[in-house]
Amino acid sequence: MWWAISNDGDRPIGTITLEVDGDAGQIHWLMVDPAARRSGVASALLQALENAAWDAGVRQLSAETLSTWAPAVAFYRRHGYQAPPIADRAKSR
Ligand SMILES: CC(C)(COP(=O)(O)OP(=O)(O)OC[C@H]1O[C@@H](n2cnc3c(N)ncnc32)[C@H](O)[C@@H]1OP(=O)(O)O)[C@@H](O)C(=O)NCCC(=O)NCCS
Repeated sequence: MWWAISNDGDRPIGTITLEVDGDAGQIHWLMVDPAARRSGVASALLQALENAAWDAGVRQLSAETLSTWAPAVAFYRRHGYQAPPIADRAKSR
């Protein structure tokens, strides 16, 4: 897990985690404090995660989010993550 810390103190303003299975990595828990959004925090977190993943031998990264979460879909698309890795996960009965 990576944390982004605010410039003005030690307040966490963002998180991202990587789950590794063999040479595949799944990105989870990307979240940025609403007050700190659109200033590159998530992009910096993703860059740190990708660098660590490639260094660790991961060859494929995927990110999962809901297709209705427009900011998340736009974010991942901007960073080269295309559907189908962006997938809906739902449970129903
Ligand atoms: C999605 C999220 C992580 C983006 O964090 P962020 O720090 O604001 O992202 P960045 O500043 O690095 O944005 C990079 C790019 O993502 C896209 N983007 C981010 N927020 C966006 C929004 N509200 N609308 C459209 N595009 C958006 C843009 O392309 C943006 O580049 P730009 O600012 O030059 O236009 C943040 O909105 C968030 O925490 N959302 C709630 C949780 C969530 O959806 N997590 C991800 C899925 S689990």
